[in-house]
Amino acid sequence: MRIVITGGAGFLGRRLARKLLERGTLTDARGQPRTIASIVLLDVVPADLPADPRVAAVTGDLADPAVIARAVAPDTDTVFHLAAVVSGQAEADFDVGMRVNLDATRSLLERCRALAAPPKFVFASSLAVFGGPLPDPVPDNAPLTPQASYGTQKAIGELLVYDMTRKGFVDGRSLRLPTVTVRPGKPNKAASSFASGIVREPLAGIDAPCPVAPTTRMWVTSPRTVIDNIVLGHEAPASAFAHTRSVNVPGIRVAVGDMVAALRAIAGDAVADRVKWQFDPAIDRIVSTWPANFAPVLGPALGMRADADFAGIVRAYMADDMPRA
Ligand SMILES: NC(=O)c1ccc[n+]([C@@H]2O[C@H](COP(=O)([O-])OP(=O)(O)OC[C@H]3O[C@@H](n4cnc5c(N)ncnc54)[C@H](O)[C@@H]3O)[C@@H](O)[C@H]2O)c1
Repeated sequence: MRIVITGGAGFLGRRLARKLLERGTLTDARGQPRTIASIVLLDVVPADLPADPRVAAVTGDLADPAVIARAVAPDTDTVFHLAAVVSGQAEADFDVGMRVNLDATRSLLERCRALAAPPKFVFASSLAVFGGPLPDPVPDNAPLTPQASYGTQKAIGELLVYDMTRKGFVDGRSLRLPTVTVRPGKPNKAASSFASGIVREPLAGIDAPCPVAPTTRMWVTSPRTVIDNIVLGHEAPASAFAHTRSVNVPGIRVAVGDMVAALRAIAGDAVADRVKWQFDPAIDRIVSTWPANFAPVLGPALGMRADADFAGIVRAYMADDMPRA
């Protein structure tokens, strides 16, 4: 089985590649279990390749159809489409967001349409397709009401995935991921970046600004759990979907103040006191439009699950990713 992961050098792309290498098999679009023969990591930055002969990298801009053609060989069985410019950047630079998040998604789907057989296509969407006044909790069939460019681009991508699936060009699945925390490394340009920074930085002995109020609630997941859920989204049979290919991926609802309280309970006052409440209206404007409470039905029916609580998410970071002293 031949797999392509766009955004394969990114946070989730690298983890997904590792998880697939460990599993060794996936189910193809015909429902057959297949051994994974190759994984191509397509990214604009060079991928830090795991030492595994099944993995190769294609480095280039996804918005260039020639790069897509190089990465997506005619016998590709599955594309995990994770490449994107994140929310803060898509809002700051409208043209880049449209080119990468929308135009390149369409080019990638067009490439899939030209393959020998329709591949599975897993699209990393986001809870940012929702915003504004919504039922609480948000049901699976809530209307798409994005309040920023990133969510708009993801929403259009989901509609394309559904329509190309309906036409039989791909076997698509759009997974609306919660905010994934705790992300290791450096802060990024996602509006939600602070949700990782307020745990990661204090644990490393560094002050971390928190740009939203302690009462702000978020819908979050750990990297471990979301990667399991992405694989489950891939493995679900086409018959599990009815009038949509979009899935609200399970998460937990947590107030930012309770995130810091969980950190305090685990790591102590000196660590938690490194969180500095510094309100930033530009970040708050984006984050406060995202709903924080969902009632997912389809995701759990596909076997997807949520983390138990935020303390578990902090402990997962400490076990999996925290740099050792
Ligand atoms: N991490 C989260 O909290 C979260 C939440 C919801 C949805 N998502 C979605 O999941 C996906 C993966 O997120 P992530 O956290 O791993 O992000 P990330 O920024 O770590 O990874 C995205 C990757 O895409 C690559 N990329 C950007 N522009 C590109 C281009 N023009 N050509 C080729 N590659 C390009 C980047 O270099 C990066 O490696 C994204 O689509 C994101 O929108 C993430």
